[in-house]
Amino acid sequence: MSLITWSPQLSVGINSIDEQHQKLINMINALNDALNSGESREVMVKIFDGLVVYCDKHFTFEEDLFGTHGYAGGAAHKAEHDKLRQQVMDLKHKMDGGNFMIGLELMGFLKDWLTNHIMKSDKAYVPDLTGKGVT
Ligand code: FEO
Repeated sequence: MSLITWSPQLSVGINSIDEQHQKLINMINALNDALNSGESREVMVKIFDGLVVYCDKHFTFEEDLFGTHGYAGGAAHKAEHDKLRQQVMDLKHKMDGGNFMIGLELMGFLKDWLTNHIMKSDKAYVPDLTGKGVT
């Protein structure tokens, strides 16, 4: 069973962003599957690295939309993104130093962070951006 299941409740109604969120969910689920099936540390770190890169790409995509369309909540939203960017970089450094490993605690954190962020912060920009023609 997947750690996170996509549902219409998670949709923000902007296709490009929904597709990116679904990809993030798929990557988190793949990491969880690797953990549950006892994949090697090397395999899990590779999936985690891919997730970090794609997460940054997605955040930048949203931040560019905020800039282009003058979203008033853009700075606060970017601060949430930056906090997660920093948290995952800190984890990455710990992993590289052998002081942290991917486990249930991290999976729970990623699941909660992404679903809460989509449901609250991402959905908050939707009326503004769709009102400015973003579809
Ligand atoms: Fe979809 Fe603000 O991340």
